[in-house]
Amino acid sequence: MTYTIRVSTTADEPTVSEILAASYSTLLAPYYAKDVLDRALPLMNKANPKLIGCGTYYVAEHSQGGLIGCGGWTHERPGSTEVVQGEAHVRHFATHPGWTRKGVAQSIMDRCRAEAVSQGVTRLHCYATLAAERFYHALGFETIERVNVRMRNDVDLPSVLMLCALPRHS
Ligand SMILES: CC(C)(COP(=O)(O)OP(=O)(O)OC[C@H]1O[C@@H](n2cnc3c(N)ncnc32)[C@H](O)[C@@H]1OP(=O)(O)O)[C@@H](O)C(=O)NCCC(=O)NCCS
Repeated sequence: MTYTIRVSTTADEPTVSEILAASYSTLLAPYYAKDVLDRALPLMNKANPKLIGCGTYYVAEHSQGGLIGCGGWTHERPGSTEVVQGEAHVRHFATHPGWTRKGVAQSIMDRCRAEAVSQGVTRLHCYATLAAERFYHALGFETIERVNVRMRNDVDLPSVLMLCALPRHS
């Protein structure tokens, strides 16, 4: 395959925002009511600069230039600074709609898992969109419960809390 996975930098912020916007607006549409997406997408479409520069967020870069996917993980719970020893959280996975089902997100997750294991993570949590539940299942995540992720006071996104056990670092 003609792409490589690398750690993102803050210089990738505009392109990551483009991928998030293209991916979410196209690939979430079959799974959510239009009014839900109209409220949620403006809050989801912009890359988080702190996340992009955190060292555990990755991009898939095409050999002919340009980014086609992104995703990563953090020790902190999304939206908080809480850290629980041995736990980590999947963050902002998206593949450009022109590049789905070519293993891009799986390659990024492989990189995430390898790095997380090396940092002592044994439980990887994920708040999956309804569109991504089958992707995470295919990669070994189990569904814990259906939840509403509060994005702002008046905006909830129906989501799925999922969990993947990772091997202990030897
Ligand atoms: C979920 C998403 C990141 C998957 O990206 P991708 O690069 O297409 O995934 P991969 O090609 O690595 O898929 C690996 C495997 O996961 C499973 N899978 C991926 N997408 C799937 C889908 N839509 N339906 C069912 N299974 C799927 C398949 O088993 C696939 O292997 P296969 O193609 O050989 O059958 C992408 O669909 C996306 O960006 N969705 C919208 C944004 C989103 O919801 N992000 C998640 C935020 S929590």
